[in-house]
Amino acid sequence: MSLFNVYPLYNITPEKAFGSTVWDDKGDAYLDFYGGHGVISIGHSHPTYVKQLTEQIQKIGFYSNFIINPLQEKLGNILPEVSGYPDYTLFLCNSGAEANENALKLASFHNRKSKVIAFKNSFHGRTSAAVAVTDNPKIVAPLNAQQEVVFFPLNDIESVKKEIAKGDVSSVIIEAIQGVGGLDEGTTAFFQELEKVCKENEVVLISDEIQCGYGRSGKFFAHRYHGIKPDIISLAKGMGNGFPIGGILISPDFKPSYGLLGTTFGGNHLACAAALSVLEVFENEKVLDNVNKQSAYFIEKFSALPQIKKIRGRGLMLGLEFDFEVAELRKKLIYEKKIFTGNANNKNLLRVLPPLTITEKEIDILFEKLTSCFE
Ligand SMILES: Cc1ncc(COP(=O)(O)O)c(C=O)c1O
Repeated sequence: MSLFNVYPLYNITPEKAFGSTVWDDKGDAYLDFYGGHGVISIGHSHPTYVKQLTEQIQKIGFYSNFIINPLQEKLGNILPEVSGYPDYTLFLCNSGAEANENALKLASFHNRKSKVIAFKNSFHGRTSAAVAVTDNPKIVAPLNAQQEVVFFPLNDIESVKKEIAKGDVSSVIIEAIQGVGGLDEGTTAFFQELEKVCKENEVVLISDEIQCGYGRSGKFFAHRYHGIKPDIISLAKGMGNGFPIGGILISPDFKPSYGLLGTTFGGNHLACAAALSVLEVFENEKVLDNVNKQSAYFIEKFSALPQIKKIRGRGLMLGLEFDFEVAELRKKLIYEKKIFTGNANNKNLLRVLPPLTITEKEIDILFEKLTSCFE
């Protein structure tokens, strides 16, 4: 018996981590410009995070959602407030896919329709509806493919309008900045027209902020760059700094009823303690300010490298586009230079998703090591 072999593994065994550094079982230190796939927000094993999770497990780690959980209530008060949606309510689950699954389902309950509009190169997760709205046939099983989904290119507002005019669209789901797809984003004019056509036709607008949200783009939510207000916002990744937690923020237009949504583990005591400590560190350490400061520093510094054709993305969700495929470069960075980075559907793109607490000094190290790869 062995593990179901679905991951092509790098031959590295992390044993401990702190801040933006990960140490393997041989004691080698790796600089983390991948954040475990955009998950690490306040840095690995942040002291506040460790303290609050430790104290919580010593009290109670889990009980079902059929009891009062004050930590969940606290998160339900603080998160809408700090994210700029004070009148939205929060439903908690365990992952990004689950957040989108619940968002799509809630939209369908709300307007009793089932068709979804999604976008080319999207990634929304691997559960039933989430994978159906993901533009990658390789990971969509025949069971999932039965859902009614249409994909349009980003910015193709005319096709969206034509589809919505048919009267059977329940929701539109969109990443404000595409993650796995390669950091493309719609224009502000597109996002604003999209919001308008959805509102006029009672189509639910879902903003997938699982990767680009929680401060990664330099604003708490990346859709804020376009001045829109989605009906549902899905969250995960940076929310728990590695502890599994996801959720959706829901506009007051949606009426809850007992049993409409539910989960065994979602919003348990430990998950909430993790999420609350992330928000506490965000505030105490002005993490968003650091994202904007380091992003500007990074972009200025790396723009000088002649090998880089373009720097995509915003904040600390960046992609360095080369005119060659980066798989070998990425391997070299990991095995020789001891730096983790990410990849994307676009094979020429090296993705950079460090902890949001990354420092100038650490960016300098990446710069030196990357430059040395070209010598
Ligand atoms: C934009 C986006 N949505 C959804 C997901 C799915 O999240 P999870 O892997 O937690 O299910 C991801 C994961 O990479 C993502 O990047």
